[in-house]
Amino acid sequence: MAGKPVALILGDDAGIGQCVQTMGFRPIVADLPNHAMEMQRRLSPALVLVNLPNGDLTPRLLRRLSRSGTPLLLMQDEAGPIPGPEGPHPPLCVLKRPVSPGDLRAAVRIVLPLSSPDLPTHTDRTFGKRYLTEYAPLLDYSAKMQAIKEIVEQVADINTTILFRGESGVGKDLVARAVHAASSRADGPFIKVNCAALPGELLESELFGHEKGAFTGAYRRKLGKFEFANEGTIYLDEIGELPLALQAKLLHVVQDLQFSRIGGRELIRVDTRILASTNRNLEVALSHGEFREDLYYRLNVVEIHVPPLRERPEEIPVLASVFLDRFNREYHQNREFLPQTLTLLANCPWPGNVRELENFVRRFVVLGNAERSQQELEAALRTIKRTDSLASPSLAPPTADVTHGLREIARRAARDAERKALKEVLDRVHWNRVAASRILKVSYKTLLNKIVECGLSRKSPHESA
Ligand SMILES: Nc1ncnc2c1ncn2[C@@H]1O[C@H](COP(=O)(O)OP(=O)(O)O)[C@@H](O)[C@H]1O
Ligand SMILES: [Mg+2]
Repeated sequence: MAGKPVALILGDDAGIGQCVQTMGFRPIVADLPNHAMEMQRRLSPALVLVNLPNGDLTPRLLRRLSRSGTPLLLMQDEAGPIPGPEGPHPPLCVLKRPVSPGDLRAAVRIVLPLSSPDLPTHTDRTFGKRYLTEYAPLLDYSAKMQAIKEIVEQVADINTTILFRGESGVGKDLVARAVHAASSRADGPFIKVNCAALPGELLESELFGHEKGAFTGAYRRKLGKFEFANEGTIYLDEIGELPLALQAKLLHVVQDLQFSRIGGRELIRVDTRILASTNRNLEVALSHGEFREDLYYRLNVVEIHVPPLRERPEEIPVLASVFLDRFNREYHQNREFLPQTLTLLANCPWPGNVRELENFVRRFVVLGNAERSQQELEAALRTIKRTDSLASPSLAPPTADVTHGLREIARRAARDAERKALKEVLDRVHWNRVAASRILKVSYKTLLNKIVECGLSRKSPHESA
């Protein structure tokens, strides 16, 4: 810990220490003003945080604390007038209690600007090859994503939880994977769990595992995803859908990284980094009592909001060409967009965000029908313009039925395209599914799932696998 800038906390720690620790400071708590003065002289802290009852912070004390010029953060019950130190005073910020980790981080950034030599930096950090080649370039196509990339690199190695927010399809998973790949856990597992995919009891067993005989049907011990994520990262997708009973259990795990399997007594410790994402408004869920406030604050130490694609339209042509290259390679094609298609692409609002754009390009490559793709975009735009004639910018958010329409068109066409390609290849290799999975560059398991999803079956009874 030596070498880290010290953050001196005067008064009640109340989680402040942990929060500033995640920012790279060494927290030192002093209960009494005299003790704090002493520490300030001896340790030259980069920052002093005062969390005393309102009346205890007297003008005299404030004057003494300010004397060395150390930036100050004051926590008060009511933001409002504070006993201002006379004369020149150091950077100072007042926060109203209760203080959320997000507020605290923001306030630290205000009193200690990024350029400050006292703010821990991670510029000397070298990232893994995978992060640099696979993820970093994808987060470079717009200023908004570059800002996210900067945060990713700053927090990669601070073991804090991160909450990813944003609409569906904007790239939350991608950014979460980037955090893992940029961290020193990159060689460990990245385990994703979709909290909306399973009902409560199953989800509990999925996350924490169960012992043999824990419930009917538990024939053998099963390890949970948290155990698999040991020495790696666990990513809890759609955390807003987590049932309340499980939220309580998760809160404990987030706090101590300890839990027991269902039906077990043994306490299992894991070393994992917890990331979570949601496209739900969690603040509304909090106010309806559907999401625990304590868990919210635990998860939301760092929040990364990934903006919708319509707010970063400069990425559309770049992403389209990235996807075009990728799918051309994947499907052994050599397709090109018509020039007018490129223009249209950039003007579509893409309510399904990057995922929708990706599917559109995949469909274009598989079907290879430039005119049809062009018409599809034109039709989508016409509908949007009709329903949205009052909104001037062509990128204004579309109305709900259009959103649904375009997404549904995309989904259906992608499925049709996949089905067609799948059937062609399977027929060609006489339903040798190992061979088919190799040609289609998907895993054997994925291929089997796709066959079921697309409702394909072999007519001849003799199958070879
Ligand atoms: N910046 C990007 N560059 C390339 N592909 C991206 C980018 N952002 C998202 N994608 C792709 O778009 C799809 C949806 O992204 P995902 O991270 O799953 O979104 P979310 O989790 O927000 O719903 C994925 O296939 C992802 O690989
Ligand atoms: Mg996701």
